Amino acid sequence: MGDHRTLVTGASGTLGRELLPRLLEAGHDVRAGSRSPPEDRGADAAWVELDLAAGTGLEAAVEGIDVIVHAATAPRGDTEAVDVRGTERLLEAAADAGVSNFVYVSIVGVDEIPYSYYEYKLAAERAVEASSVPSTVVRATQFHAFVFDLLESIAWFPVWPLPTAVPLQPIDAGEAAAAIVEHATPEAAGRVAPVGGPEVRLVGDLARAYRSATGRRRPIVRLPIPGAVASGFRSGEATCPDRTVGTTTWAEWLERRLGNG
Ligand SMILES: NC(=O)c1ccc[n+]([C@@H]2O[C@H](COP(=O)([O-])OP(=O)(O)OC[C@H]3O[C@@H](n4cnc5c(N)ncnc54)[C@H](OP(=O)(O)O)[C@@H]3O)[C@@H](O)[C@H]2O)c1
Repeated sequence: MGDHRTLVTGASGTLGRELLPRLLEAGHDVRAGSRSPPEDRGADAAWVELDLAAGTGLEAAVEGIDVIVHAATAPRGDTEAVDVRGTERLLEAAADAGVSNFVYVSIVGVDEIPYSYYEYKLAAERAVEASSVPSTVVRATQFHAFVFDLLESIAWFPVWPLPTAVPLQPIDAGEAAAAIVEHATPEAAGRVAPVGGPEVRLVGDLARAYRSATGRRRPIVRLPIPGAVASGFRSGEATCPDRTVGTTTWAEWLERRLGNG
């Protein structure tokens, strides 16, 4: 038996898959929650089927749990149902189960950039903070894997339209997970310092590094995005340059991902 009984939501996701082995390593009794079972969850993590939008499986998922690391999200699809209503439902179940620390994973800049996904994340942060369940809110910057998937999704376009002047501070999801695991204790810490990658780089620069690492030659063109969302991103609200927690750079991550290293 581990010291803490810990539920991870979003266990099959990019971050969740990195949280599981690190929590096990830190001695937690881990329960992995998602709609579909995570691959490679490790023999020691139990899996529970959990649907935050439908509200099914929540009571069983939180029964006997001390700490929840809530990393489930639906950026595409019904974000409000999963991220806001689902978080509220999970908080209710957590209150009934006597959870002592509800760790909510959020994103740097959600309060400054009025992007619809971020507005739902901010509403979820507020629900967490308004709840009677003691909580910890930790924000992270974009994961390298997220930037990579975005670039992969446009790689076949004849030109790559991108918001080239937007600064980002991408982080390895494993390094973000390691920092989040530090907060997965029975004592809630409230709002804690954000977790960012080692360097702030413009999207155009990240895209050029990806282009040369993949041997592609498409032109990168500046995609003009007007309005408050663009100005929030452009003014660096999605970065936390004082909090360079991760050490793996985009170039190093690309080498590892593409097997060129
Ligand atoms: N991606 C980034 O760059 C980034 C940066 C900073 C912070 N974050 C935050 O980090 C957390 C994890 O993000 P991620 O990128 O790892 O997400 P992800 O890869 O998209 O994974 C999302 C997870 O949520 C689960 N999920 C989706 N709908 C669900 C539902 N209705 N009920 C229960 N589970 C559901 C998915 O599993 P099933 O589909 O199997 O249910 C999956 O395990 C989120 O809070 C996100 O906002 C992400």
